[in-house]
Amino acid sequence: MQAVILVGGQGTRLRPLTSTVPKPVVQLVDRPFISFMLEWLHGHGVDDVIMSCGFLADSVRAVLGDGSELGLRLRFVEEREPRGTAGALKMAESMLDERFLMLNGDVLTDIDLSAQIAQHERTGARATLSLVPVEDPSAYGVVVLEQDRSVLDFVEKPSPGQVDSNLISAGAYVLQRDVLELVEPDRNVSIEREVWPRLVGDGLFGFPSDSYWLDIGTPERYLQGTFDIISGNVESAVRARLDGDRLAIDERAEVLGRVSAPALIEQGARVEEGAHVGGLVVLGEDVSIGAGSIVERAVILRGAQIGEGCELRDCIVAAGCRVGPRTRITDGAVLGEGVNVGADNVITSGARIFPGVQLPDGAIEF
Ligand code: GDD
Ligand code: MG
Repeated sequence: MQAVILVGGQGTRLRPLTSTVPKPVVQLVDRPFISFMLEWLHGHGVDDVIMSCGFLADSVRAVLGDGSELGLRLRFVEEREPRGTAGALKMAESMLDERFLMLNGDVLTDIDLSAQIAQHERTGARATLSLVPVEDPSAYGVVVLEQDRSVLDFVEKPSPGQVDSNLISAGAYVLQRDVLELVEPDRNVSIEREVWPRLVGDGLFGFPSDSYWLDIGTPERYLQGTFDIISGNVESAVRARLDGDRLAIDERAEVLGRVSAPALIEQGARVEEGAHVGGLVVLGEDVSIGAGSIVERAVILRGAQIGEGCELRDCIVAAGCRVGPRTRITDGAVLGEGVNVGADNVITSGARIFPGVQLPDGAIEF
């Protein structure tokens, strides 16, 4: 089975994590985000993947190579300027099989694609969208479904009250190649705004699912995805690393302080005496947590060094950051790669510090 993954978005909502690294290869728990998708696809018989890239395509290729490690053939199609979700697919047309999967490249899910493909065959659909219920559908493509699973209405990012449904398109589609006849070449075309509405009543079906699903496109959801993975709420390869208490501490990590589950601590990481790490924490390779520091509901990526007596809660600290003693980073704050924060700072309320920024001692209280 073939799959096209759309990874051409700029990932602006996930900045500063995506300032230096494209969204598909942003580290999530213990691997590049897109690896979760590739493993899920492989588990449903996908062996041929086309990555439709734009922004920073070379670094996606550098991280993923030719896919052989994952047992896949991996190819890349690059756009010089964004073509939109349908325009990007159109660019890959000559490589496509008669029937294939298309995926938004930013969803963490374990939806049963095999069952979705089976339904697609049974109904003779031209396009089958996987659907999940969400509380607030306004940021998504909203679908009204008939009893027979044909789509009665599709509205992308509806205004409040515009559609009465909480079922949204989950960003995983089974498509027949002839759908591309609806897409003009060499133009920016949105599949959500220009193709799905035209297929209503003409072969557009939905596959409702109650599987785990999350669009990881913002720091809050990136943290949520991390927590769900290390809590074992989503089917992924990380589950095998967690013990019965949902702890994974690499034997080459050194823990002198205390760790509460769920937590995942990589090789070379060091938790000093009196420090408390967890629950819901990931410490990347070679991270160090100073004596007496508290780290809770947080992701600290590779090589970051946290001083003594710090408090880190509900935050993301990217690779290579240095945080001076007694600094507090809380409430959704995100430090980009290589940020250097001196002692006695308070960074909170969703503050985003961009890569390479240096903050002297006591510089901010946000
Ligand atoms: N190659 C390429 N070119 N990819 C693109 C382009 C483009 O011009 N524009 C967007 N993408 C990719 C993004 O990288 C992302 O993986 C995917 O297409 C969807 O784009 P988002 O920008 O993340 O869209 P969204 O999250 O607002 O909405 C989409 O996803 C929702 C589910 O998360 C829509 O498909 C909604 O209908 C859907 O409900
Ligand atoms: Mg998205």
